[in-house]
Amino acid sequence: MALPKRYLVTSALPYANGLKHVGHLAGAYIPADIYVRYLRAQHRDVVFVCGSDEHGTAIPIQAMKENTTPRAIIDKYHEAMKEDFADLAISFDIYHRTSEPLHHETAQEFFTYLHERGELETKETEQYYDESANTFLADRYIKGTCPNCGSDRAFGDQCENCGTSLSPDELINPVSTLSGNPPVKKKTTHWYLPLGRHEEFLTKWILQEHKEDWRPTVVGQCKSWIEGGLQSRAVTRDLDWGIKVPLKDADGKVLYVWFDAPIGYISATKQWALDHQKDWKPYWYDNDTQLVHFIGKDNIVFHCIIFPVMLKLHGNILPTNVPANEFLNLEGDKMSTSRNWKLDMRDYITDFVKKENGGGQCVDMLRYYLTQIAPETKDSEFTWKGFQDAVNSELGSIFGNFENRTFVLMHKLCKGKVPPLHTNILDDTDQQLIDKIKETAKLVGDLIEQYKFRDALYEVIDLARAGNKYMQKKEPWIRARQVDENGQVTAEAQASIDNCLHLCLQLTANLAILANPFLPFTAKEMLHKMKVVDKMLEWKNAGQIKLLSVGYSLREPKVLFRQIDDTEIAAQVEKLKAGLVASQQDAANDKQEIAEKKEDKPLKEEIQFDDFAKIDLRVGTITQAEKVPKADKLLKLEVDLGFEKKNGGIRHCTSFRT
Ligand code: MF3
Ligand code: ZN
Repeated sequence: MALPKRYLVTSALPYANGLKHVGHLAGAYIPADIYVRYLRAQHRDVVFVCGSDEHGTAIPIQAMKENTTPRAIIDKYHEAMKEDFADLAISFDIYHRTSEPLHHETAQEFFTYLHERGELETKETEQYYDESANTFLADRYIKGTCPNCGSDRAFGDQCENCGTSLSPDELINPVSTLSGNPPVKKKTTHWYLPLGRHEEFLTKWILQEHKEDWRPTVVGQCKSWIEGGLQSRAVTRDLDWGIKVPLKDADGKVLYVWFDAPIGYISATKQWALDHQKDWKPYWYDNDTQLVHFIGKDNIVFHCIIFPVMLKLHGNILPTNVPANEFLNLEGDKMSTSRNWKLDMRDYITDFVKKENGGGQCVDMLRYYLTQIAPETKDSEFTWKGFQDAVNSELGSIFGNFENRTFVLMHKLCKGKVPPLHTNILDDTDQQLIDKIKETAKLVGDLIEQYKFRDALYEVIDLARAGNKYMQKKEPWIRARQVDENGQVTAEAQASIDNCLHLCLQLTANLAILANPFLPFTAKEMLHKMKVVDKMLEWKNAGQIKLLSVGYSLREPKVLFRQIDDTEIAAQVEKLKAGLVASQQDAANDKQEIAEKKEDKPLKEEIQFDDFAKIDLRVGTITQAEKVPKADKLLKLEVDLGFEKKNGGIRHCTSFRT
């Protein structure tokens, strides 16, 4: 099959409202970076784009929290995120931002294009409105209980606990995040993308054409969206932060953040092209471009259904694949920014990468562990103990150990030079190793092309494991004891030693090539020790056993990975727990604040004592509660009033009926 002409690889644009954690890193950034480094090692034409998502209600809400302006928030977090990605060797060709004028123009043009062709519809509906704040409550301006998982911190656009995307009307007990008050409904007009019109296209394109090559979890989610009936999606909002709707009579309306953000991939490509005197158009219009979106599972509907419909209507190409990852948990619990149960990229960078010389090895340690546990098919878990084991036992004892033994023995038994290969005495063990090198090179490439990064990395380690076994079997250190009467190693023994170390060195060179997409610093360090140039890392060299020339002298051994000790990981676990306690304190303060806001406004006018005396008010204990069949918001209660028991129902936990 002919190779695609070019690749456009994207990682989800992170919201510029805070630092990002290692769950984000494992989900959308490391896998994309591995894929891109692999493509670059073959000189394929690839552009890797990302940038900050700077619109949506998340930004002004963070500004309120930090007592500053939305502009200050995006400037601060854009820079911070960009720096963190760079520190962890995520090699974007461009890290753009959606606040750039180029992006605003691109998104407005896109909207206008669809609007002029009648691909959008307008609708007047009633939406939640906060009377005290005088504003509509889009997306994150409204909070409530999630109808799916029951979390009481769900937003009007999404529940961060279970990842379900929501509309404000689905929230149970909605309140305004601005005032803490229950909202009222008010009429407003918006533009909608009628997804229903594209059901046939989506069914055919995803459920038939990509049934096999997309991840089952991705196809599964799309299937339930499509079969659940595709509703029209509002693509505009009543907000003052965002990209203005480019129409007359649309004052106070902006594009919905999920309309503009994915277009950010296009504007980023345009900016990259401008910076490098290239043409951006083939990347978005030519069918011979492979467009791949790396995302987390909560972004699936936007990248597999909504954005593709927009792209199709706009005449662009469609994604070839959307390798979405599931979620990464942390020490037995969901990773969460609001509960402060997370490991920020920045914290790892401070505590490991920047703390010591050779921070590169710490970058690779994290990249290694996050790939080894990547939630490709199901949710997975980051634990500090797991991190320690991965680094000490796999990277250290298998990969690092093999490389180090090879260097040590080559210096001791072969005078620090690449020994010759005596082909006349090659045996089955040697041949098996040569075959394993070739097979692994092919396999790792194939697995990366199938977006199976976890399996691909496993094969790299397995090759190092095979190297250790080989050495153990050949025992060159024992052969070295076979000496003649002058104390010289016999010619026969030396030939066997030569072959062993020659092959171990060629294997080491292969490990550098194969590890390079995953562990770029390690690969560089290995090149340095082998005194070879970057060019050796080209993927076409993988599987070759003539990478290092005979007689070439190599540098001294140096251990590739340090060990992670118990005190380091204990300190991290402690830090995590302390963070949780601090955030609980914050949450309590927030609740108090909302309660105080509510107290400002009496719900009802005060009554006179005489009226109060007429009320029969009793306190009871709920002794039983059971679900009422077919009513998902109703509970049947038994209340013990002390002197009698009563049955009644409770709806939304607010009103009580007998
Ligand atoms: N900011 C979104 C999030 O963090 C992702 C946006 S991806 C894009 O969930 F496609 F819209 F850019
Ligand atoms: Zn939920």
